[in-house]
Amino acid sequence: MLLSQVETPSYIIDEGKLIKNLKVLERVQQEAGCKILLAQKAFSNFCVYPLIGQYLAGTTASGLYEARLGKEEMGKENHVFAPAYKEADMDELVKLCDHIIFNSVAQLMKYKDKCLKAGVSIGLRVNPECSTQGDHAIYDPCSKGSRLGVTLSNLQQAIENNPDVLKGVDGLHFHTLCEQNSDDLETTIEVVKEKFGQYLNKMSWINMGGGHHISREDYDVNRLIRIIKDVKETYDVDVYLEPGEAIALNAGYLMTEVLDIVDNEIKTLILDTSAACHMPDVLEMPYRPPLMNSYEWDKKPYKYRLSSYTCLAGDIIGDYSFNREIKVGDRLVFEDMAIYSMVKNNTFNGIPLPSIYLQKQDGDCQLIKKFGYEDFKNRLS
Ligand SMILES: Cc1ncc(COP(=O)(O)O)c(C=O)c1O
Repeated sequence: MLLSQVETPSYIIDEGKLIKNLKVLERVQQEAGCKILLAQKAFSNFCVYPLIGQYLAGTTASGLYEARLGKEEMGKENHVFAPAYKEADMDELVKLCDHIIFNSVAQLMKYKDKCLKAGVSIGLRVNPECSTQGDHAIYDPCSKGSRLGVTLSNLQQAIENNPDVLKGVDGLHFHTLCEQNSDDLETTIEVVKEKFGQYLNKMSWINMGGGHHISREDYDVNRLIRIIKDVKETYDVDVYLEPGEAIALNAGYLMTEVLDIVDNEIKTLILDTSAACHMPDVLEMPYRPPLMNSYEWDKKPYKYRLSSYTCLAGDIIGDYSFNREIKVGDRLVFEDMAIYSMVKNNTFNGIPLPSIYLQKQDGDCQLIKKFGYEDFKNRLS
């Protein structure tokens, strides 16, 4: 089926663009000698896990369900990090995961023996307290009072109370970036070395988290490779990265249709999609998603506000302008819709979930999944 023939609303994963990203990541792995994991929180479309598994070392999870999905559908290295684990989940996780990362010394001490008995490699997430992102405070794990990762002073205190705290711990993990370039990683690494280098000397691996926008056009891949090689040599450790966005960046679309046009000083297009339901990051972050064949608000003669058919007044996707008049029945295509979209969507207002298609490299769009009333009803009681 051609892209122009898929029903709306639909997400379309672009296999060719996915492969393009994976090739960049493969180069990093080969030239830096590191391992890259898919952070499933950004993209969990397991129909392409066999493809992703051809390039990457494995998966990382935010909890039990993602860990199970990674094991079932990719079956390579399987890591997990969560701010805390429930006991029942840990019983399962030690069977599913080869690496388990803890967020606090208390969690580490609670589950250390269980992990060691199961032969799981243990990691501890540290907080370098080095903020490098200005715009998005809710995505900054280094903000003041952050619950994410053990600070140096808390770690020192814990070791003072119990010198065996790090016994059995194989790796350190940090995650501080969000859509950032390797200059910010370089800044962070300097702080990590200064604060945690003494502990890293005794570890066998370090995980530098996600947020590395490696597949973005302007990303300095050579600098990333240099940083990784330096850390590997200095501390004699294996290096992991676990990006989510970089894997499927710009590798998906959301196809929608114009249902109505409301003219109240501003022309608003009512679409059969929703920021709140189908692209929640647009409201959460917030940001204005790229839209094919559209321009900034004041650039072209035909100006529209793009909105949704939910009841939420603020369910507004953004203001755009076009070369041509938009009519009811026209189809519009949002870009960069593979990441943090399908994993976060919902059926608020009983709005249907978009179908999922995979566009093969020859342009053919294959239906992966269609959703219906039962998917809405089954989440409720
Ligand atoms: C611990 C951890 N690892 C990896 C990621 C993936 O980050 P991104 O999708 O920005 O690359 C996140 C995102 O929040 C995270 O919290």
